[in-house]
Amino acid sequence: MKTLIIANWKMNPTTLTEAKRTFDLVKKGIRGIRKAEVIICPPFPFLTSIKYQVSSIKLGGQDCFWENPPAGGGAYTGEISPLMLKNLGCEYVILGHSERRKYFGETEEIINKKIKAALKAKLKPIFCIGETQEEKDMEKTQDILKFQLSEGLKKISKKEIKNIVIAYEPVWAIGTGNACDTEMAMSALLIIKKVISQPYDNSTAQNLRILYGGSVNSQNAAGYIKDAGFVGLLVGGASLNPKEFVKIVKSV
Ligand code: PGA
Repeated sequence: MKTLIIANWKMNPTTLTEAKRTFDLVKKGIRGIRKAEVIICPPFPFLTSIKYQVSSIKLGGQDCFWENPPAGGGAYTGEISPLMLKNLGCEYVILGHSERRKYFGETEEIINKKIKAALKAKLKPIFCIGETQEEKDMEKTQDILKFQLSEGLKKISKKEIKNIVIAYEPVWAIGTGNACDTEMAMSALLIIKKVISQPYDNSTAQNLRILYGGSVNSQNAAGYIKDAGFVGLLVGGASLNPKEFVKIVKSV
């Protein structure tokens, strides 16, 4: 199985020129690397321009709506349907990111609807879960992960879950420079596998692709894969620096 390295550009950069430049530098930098599958999730407006440059790099959206309306039925101002992303060449879509939960009030119910709609459009959801600082301090990590997984994956079959990637992103580690240490990340990974094995089964849990995200950089990246046992990484801030991002890809 290839290591998945996913770049979440969030609401960056400001111009298409910068977006193309970053993309090009990453593309050149990772040329010839076979052991990693690299996915870039740029802001929606840059998807079409980047689509035509895609080679070994795959594309993902950063969010999508929970409906795939038929032609003429798209009365959802400002939203992007999973089918639109698919049509633009995306293979993946990030769903349930903590910034969506925090700033846009996304609940488990909304995220569950989005995951189902994405699967219907044959997109692979990258389902983000993780506890906040407060929840960690109250030793609620296990309960939170259990809740987010059981609600977010409600009514999703064993066959469908194979197309889902789980990203464990402790909220307190996102964009803070305070990355989760590998031991703590590993214990979250074990919790996730255990929770998944309940409604599904052990082999589904073992084969599920589970990533770590939160202040990943070229110094700490390899530890999550080689020591903690994650199969990939979701990289935010560091993915905007092509040199650093390429170093991350090469390190795992
Ligand atoms: P970060 O972001 O790498 O900047 O911490 C990760 C994410 O939000 O996915």
